[in-house]
Amino acid sequence: MIDKYNRKIDYVRLSITDKCNFRCNYCMNENVRFMQDNELLSLIEIEKLVKVLKDLKFKNIRLTGGEPTLRPDIIDIAKIIKNYFGEFSITTNGSLMHILAQDLKKNGLKNVNFSLDSLNRYTFTKITKRDDLNNVLNGLEKSLEIGLNVKLNTVIQKRNFNEVFELIEFAAKYKLPIRFIELMPIGNNYNENDFISEDILKSKISEKYSLIPYDKKLGIGPSKYYIIKELNSKIGFISAMTHNFCSSCNKIRISANGNIYPCLAFDYHIPIKDVILKEEKLKEKIQFAILEKPQRHYLNEIKKVTPMHKMGG
Ligand code: GTP
Ligand code: 5AD
Ligand code: SF4
Repeated sequence: MIDKYNRKIDYVRLSITDKCNFRCNYCMNENVRFMQDNELLSLIEIEKLVKVLKDLKFKNIRLTGGEPTLRPDIIDIAKIIKNYFGEFSITTNGSLMHILAQDLKKNGLKNVNFSLDSLNRYTFTKITKRDDLNNVLNGLEKSLEIGLNVKLNTVIQKRNFNEVFELIEFAAKYKLPIRFIELMPIGNNYNENDFISEDILKSKISEKYSLIPYDKKLGIGPSKYYIIKELNSKIGFISAMTHNFCSSCNKIRISANGNIYPCLAFDYHIPIKDVILKEEKLKEKIQFAILEKPQRHYLNEIKKVTPMHKMGG
């Protein structure tokens, strides 16, 4: 579908739980309150939704959370999506991938983006509040071993800025593209003192490496890529704050309790749970939500309150 600003919207980020086993400093506190299980979309509701998304010519589905692998019926959800779309992507903190990778792959998983903000056990634990780096690295290894298409996501902040070379070299060693994400003022924990811009990061990287623009896409999202000449590896930047990419936005987000968020930077959402079993009404609501997409975000002026894990990361 085409929106009001002539953007083709064919990418859905479907959150299947707002729960997470980590507590990343930019995302949630220990005292976070999660949705009740009976508020979440059920398997039957997810099946209806996925069918309608296919009918509306969406091309890509990415499962998100919270942490999507915490949902006990994730394999059944995978089967549903495989049935309609053939394959899907996931964004995960990776902590359970050593257990789930194989089964997910068998049921349609193709692309996995791992959140990995640090390779140092102390810093990793400081950011995520969980001493789980080993499980994440095992999950990463398992995913690579079975041939999943893996990329890394690193939210860059003051506290991991000094690790940037280590992260880049780790990614290069495994031939993984790594994307650095600018911290966004979303949720309750945002601290502007933590922020590092793409330009500052690039100038640090340039002290050691040459970045050559790479004009192809590696996925379906907004990352801009470069080749690191000396390592022959790929690095990406997702810089919503300083290099706005709204004009090429191609997505909607659906939260685990069935609200469509036309844009992650606004609390405005369209509930679909009440119509989800009525195919025509559901189609109309999704079409309406696409037409409600704003032209751009104003995160540089207005801090947003609904955290990523509630609307779908
Ligand atoms: P691929 O390109 O296929 O790898 O997908 P992706 O980059 O869309 O997926 P991923 O879930 O890895 O996205 C990484 C992060 O980029 C998200 O968690 C957000 O922090 C950020 N991001 C993705 N899309 C948007 C967007 O439309 N707006 C903003 N502001 N940030 C986004
Ligand atoms: N700023 C930037 N990215 C965020 N994420 C969650 N909260 C924020 C934020 N405030 C993204 C990160 C993380 C994914 C699950 O959600 O990319 O890896
Ligand atoms: Fe969990 Fe992802 Fe939020 Fe971290 S950013 S607490 S891994 S949902």
